[in-house]
Amino acid sequence: MTQSQPEAQAHQEAVTFPFGRPSPFEPPERLTSLREEGPITPMVYPDGATGWLVTGYSAVRSILADPRFSSRRELLHIPVPFPLMQEMRRPADPGMFIRMDPPDHTRYRKPLTAQFTVRRMKQLEPRIREITEERLDAMEKAGPPQDLVKEFALPIPSLVICELLGVPYADRDEFQRSTAVLLNLESSVEDIRATIAGFSAFFARLIEAKRADPADDLLSGLIEGGELTDEELGNVGFLLLVAGHETTANMLGLGTFALLQHPDQLAALRADPSLIDNTVEELLRHLTIIHVGPLRAALEDVEVEGRLIKAGDPVTLSLMAANRDPARFADPEHLDITNPAAGHLTFGHGLHQCLGQQLARVEMRTAFPMLFDRFPGLRLAVPAEEVPMREKMSIYGVRELPVRW
Ligand code: HEM
Repeated sequence: MTQSQPEAQAHQEAVTFPFGRPSPFEPPERLTSLREEGPITPMVYPDGATGWLVTGYSAVRSILADPRFSSRRELLHIPVPFPLMQEMRRPADPGMFIRMDPPDHTRYRKPLTAQFTVRRMKQLEPRIREITEERLDAMEKAGPPQDLVKEFALPIPSLVICELLGVPYADRDEFQRSTAVLLNLESSVEDIRATIAGFSAFFARLIEAKRADPADDLLSGLIEGGELTDEELGNVGFLLLVAGHETTANMLGLGTFALLQHPDQLAALRADPSLIDNTVEELLRHLTIIHVGPLRAALEDVEVEGRLIKAGDPVTLSLMAANRDPARFADPEHLDITNPAAGHLTFGHGLHQCLGQQLARVEMRTAFPMLFDRFPGLRLAVPAEEVPMREKMSIYGVRELPVRW
């Protein structure tokens, strides 16, 4: 039997997923040099599988749009060591449509899309302002220094998801405590398992309550649609939490750090607040917090930009490398809020493109200006080199951001 192309080349090159950044806002140098060598590189996965790492913008975009590449969980391989690796190799639980293909994916995504309406996002805007205001009041009251991650970046998206789902006020502290365990990098696998079980019971109670007493929120809307079982509804709620919390929180934390470290950009935004939309898009592109993935597996042999990807091969798409590809973006290494970064892939592309992207945008558009307005003298409370980063994580960001004002 002849070796498949990735097997042969992986043995020659033995590329593993690159980490190790030269500075907090730059991609790993190895990732950049791999893209310079070619858009698609053979890669060895920690479980011994051989597959591909895709770093060129056009190749990443075309694979994300191609139904011959699957998102089914049981077909995927994870390119970095992961404690729950074995548990991943089975079909996704009902409702976890991020790891499904059509028609299953469509069955869930359709009613969800109908709930993420412009009207609901508009309704959430004043609540996002109130939530942000409350967090800023709490920071001001406690006085400097404060950890911006703990006091601002983490609670805002968590409370916004409570609003979206319709979690009652009385349950929000518990919701936030459990979310914090889930996102704490030091949490043990046992604690994480117990917290996931706790969420399952929490959502079961919440769905029962919404059935009895519906309101104008996403869960009530889905229940009214009548298309999903209680188990599916609970898992959808959990998926929204997992997909929407850590991502937005890291954008708020890392985005603030980036603006503080680029005072010319912050000054430009302060001088012209209408630049906020550009700022959000440029931060999304420049920081590309999804460090690892999205992941796919080829369902059949596919040729992409001169590489033959064989049926079954795992594929890791580097959004970060794609978003810094000079073949697509003029001067991609610079953070420039005056230069709109249309076409970045930070929210993915194709069927699975982020369902919550408008919500994430509203959160950032609201929270960044309110933070810098409230604390005009906001600055780091430690030297920049001492800000602890989330290095080997699938979502990149700051672990803590000590600030003064
Ligand atoms: C800055 C913040 C965010 C980033 C960078 C982000 C990024 C992404 C990316 C890259 C994907 C595609 C995954 C794939 O192709 O396999 C995705 C999917 C998804 N995101 Fe987001 N996301 C963010 C915020 C949110 C929020 C706030 C929510 C909801 C509250 C959300 C819910 C989802 C869901 C449900 C999916 C799965 C969509 C599908 O499979 O059809 N995300 N996100």
